[in-house]
Amino acid sequence: MSAAMISSERRGRVALVRLASDNPLNPLTDALMDQLVDILLRNETDPHVHATVLTGSHKAFAAGADIAAMSTLDYASAFANDYIGRSWDRIRTMRKPIIAAVGGYALGGGCELAMMCDIVIAADDARFGQPEIKLGIVPGAGGTQRLPRAAGKSTAMLACLTGESFDANEALAYGLVSKVVPREQLIDEALRVGEQIARHSLPVIVAIKEAVDRAFESSLSEGLLFERRLFHAGFSLADQKEGMAAFLERRQAAFQNR
Ligand code: CAA
Repeated sequence: MSAAMISSERRGRVALVRLASDNPLNPLTDALMDQLVDILLRNETDPHVHATVLTGSHKAFAAGADIAAMSTLDYASAFANDYIGRSWDRIRTMRKPIIAAVGGYALGGGCELAMMCDIVIAADDARFGQPEIKLGIVPGAGGTQRLPRAAGKSTAMLACLTGESFDANEALAYGLVSKVVPREQLIDEALRVGEQIARHSLPVIVAIKEAVDRAFESSLSEGLLFERRLFHAGFSLADQKEGMAAFLERRQAAFQNR
């Protein structure tokens, strides 16, 4: 694979990351996923980046993990190399928000990659699905876990057990995506949402992402306690003083990210 599988540029405080392999269906090869993780990790330590928009090609967000590579995989090497887990699982450890801007196909690992992101915005031509069953495998990057959490058991069972895909408006009705926009507005809308997030205080952005994620990992009591601790800790931030002073003085807050 060439080095140009992913392009990354900065738009203000938002990084725009595009999956751009030679094949516009963006099969998610190991090399592509390694490169994606590297770019996201770089954004994590870049103080000028507060959020990322992740998108694909004109044809697909991504059509799933690399079927050609998987076709010869055996259990021993999948297990020994922690296939999927080794790289993909690192995406969920990113602290800054990632917005998936999904146009075209988001199938299998592509749908799972979108669901790993914090917000999913779909173009009206987006098609989601977990077709792994048609290949004789189980979804391997979270489809059986994140789809029921996003869309409920019946929808997840339907999608994973039939392998049939569903369109952007169905994804919206299921709660898998936050909004559907015309294809030509996809990137602008995702960047607009990214900038709306990014203009706020970075430690507060990160804390809110942690707190919402906690809702999927803990009981309500644990989650509420975690939120309360973050809420109290927030009063140690200069940005809390600035945000409230700005409100009372009827001016725009100038956050310093501390
Ligand atoms: N991996 C590797 N190659 C892929 C691919 C994938 N996921 N998806 C498509 N391709 C390749 C095709 O093999 C084909 O290659 P050649 O030109 O060399 O023959 C090329 O991309 C174009 O594909 P199509 O001719 O099929 O394109 P299409 O426009 O007719 O159909 C599509 C598009 C509906 C997305 C169809 O390609 C498709 O169904 N792809 C597979 C989707 C899928 O099953 N994804 C799940 C993968 S398993 C997984 O992701 C596991 C996991 O949970 C982590």
